[in-house]
Amino acid sequence: MCGIVGYIGDKDINSVLMAGLWRLEYRGYDSSGVASVMDGELEVRKVKGRLMNLQEMLSEKPLSGNIGIGHTRWATHGEPSDQNAHPQVGCKNKIAVVHNGIIENYYTLKEELLKKKHFFKSNTDTEVIAHLIEENYKGNLKESVLKTISRLVGSYAIAVICTDEPDKIVIFRYGSPLIVGIGKNENLIASDIPALLDHTKDIIAMNDGELGIIKKDKVEFFNAEGEKIKKEKKKVKWGPESIEKEDFPHYMLKEIHEQPNIIRNNISLKIKGNEFNFGEDFKFSPKELAHLSHIIIQACGTSWHAGYIGKYLFEDFARIRTEIDISSEFRYRNPVMDGEPLVMAITQSGETADTLAGLREAKAKFIKILSLVNVKGSTIARESDSTIYLNAGPEIGVASTKAFTSQIFQLYLLSLYLSKLKWTLDSSEIDKKIKEIKELPKKMKKILKKENEIKEIANKFKNAKDFMLIGRGINYPTALEGALKLKEISYIHATGYPAGEMKHGPIAMISEGSPVVAIATKSSVYDKMLSNIEELKSRKAKVIVIGTENDEIIKNLGSDVFYIPECEENLSPILVSIPLQLFAYHIAVLNERDVDRPRNLAKSVTVE
Ligand code: M6R
Repeated sequence: MCGIVGYIGDKDINSVLMAGLWRLEYRGYDSSGVASVMDGELEVRKVKGRLMNLQEMLSEKPLSGNIGIGHTRWATHGEPSDQNAHPQVGCKNKIAVVHNGIIENYYTLKEELLKKKHFFKSNTDTEVIAHLIEENYKGNLKESVLKTISRLVGSYAIAVICTDEPDKIVIFRYGSPLIVGIGKNENLIASDIPALLDHTKDIIAMNDGELGIIKKDKVEFFNAEGEKIKKEKKKVKWGPESIEKEDFPHYMLKEIHEQPNIIRNNISLKIKGNEFNFGEDFKFSPKELAHLSHIIIQACGTSWHAGYIGKYLFEDFARIRTEIDISSEFRYRNPVMDGEPLVMAITQSGETADTLAGLREAKAKFIKILSLVNVKGSTIARESDSTIYLNAGPEIGVASTKAFTSQIFQLYLLSLYLSKLKWTLDSSEIDKKIKEIKELPKKMKKILKKENEIKEIANKFKNAKDFMLIGRGINYPTALEGALKLKEISYIHATGYPAGEMKHGPIAMISEGSPVVAIATKSSVYDKMLSNIEELKSRKAKVIVIGTENDEIIKNLGSDVFYIPECEENLSPILVSIPLQLFAYHIAVLNERDVDRPRNLAKSVTVE
């Protein structure tokens, strides 16, 4: 989604804002812009298209001054254009605003402002904010921002500069992330941590309903009533090096290759002998967890697929009834939450609007909330009763890969822990599974070493128009995830199905040469998968099989076979995902797609 940056200090405003915007590029955008204040004048540069266009504009016509705001826009109201790019400015050229989110009542406000003779230059909802602040401005920017936000309906993070108060950026957050970076004789703001890391690791995360006044040597915070509040700063544990591509051509490929180390790191953090340690933010007592009546998992996209795998794990190991829901459905469907349930929010970013709303729905009913989050200190982590961190490091590629396998890992561990509390698995079984877990990084590396095999298969299928991915049991959600990866980055249509459903409709789609990816690793449903593959073969489909090493039967069944090492059935989604991620990646590269920034997509979806 859109990105916000802002700076006040002695460095060159052009390079600081531009570098910050480049750091946010991965979030997705279609236009960008910057503004500064110099000698009582606003300077604004904005342009449609890639950030390079803005950079070229700034090299010809740099901004001056030492205070500025910048933005990457992902169009919601009004098409991508120079005029609709942010910053948006009021009539008098005194106030400039950048905004992430949506103003739902912008039409009513615009009508009101038009009657007061304001003239509008864009079709955005954001421009309304600039005019309303201007209308309310009586010599105090903080007061006019507070008066303005009391009229706004929707979700927003805003940063405002004003020619009459050139010593400050005023920010406000309601429903969209905003972080302040604390420097020495300089301060920054951004919608996401990577934009701050070149300057500081000390950050303060804004909560909903908070206003900040950011000056060069001071930051102050207020609630929506204008009363001063105290906020603590925190240290980010990772540095700018974690957001470099290193020698990889794309972040996605780098992140796929990071997976064995992420799992290894999580093993050493979370498994101590035969005990589990989910970290200091996991605050539920064993007693509380042992008494859960059921679990409701709600999440979006890839995180929902991980949650689906979680359902199989919790039910199989811990015998806890588990529901899985897509957050945008969960939040509006009035779910029954009686008994002693645990609601789980699974999210890489910790900022997904629907997942956050689902969490708040459950919280309002006094339900316990556990979140699985990658980004430390994100809104969902802060609003949950307990959090298990994914420890996957920053994920920059829009297509989620390493966060997914880490989510499955956490769910696996948690289900073992619950099985221990509920006495549903005996300790020798748990020990055996812990041993299996410890083998994972080695096995994952082994798969990655065979990347070329996947590349060759991708080359054969690069012109396909349609893929079907099938799996059974715990690898049915893995098939869904494999299909999502293909769709997202290659733009080739792909559907995931539980293999047992084929005869109930989808097999009608199969004709000579139809490509189908079948997950047929050694498992409790292996024989069933073999029958499904036979069915497809007899209809002359081209079946790419993901099988288990040394399986000779599979060799003769599939048109192409990719082998993964043998492993415990419930852990297999972690291994199976890797060839599926690589397959989607190579198909996308062979089709010359923008792998890290697929069209129409944003890294974190902070609006509905
Ligand atoms: O940050 P979250 O995990 O909450 O994001 C949820 C989805 O938006 C995300 O997984 C999306 O589907 C990705 N593009 C998947 O690759």
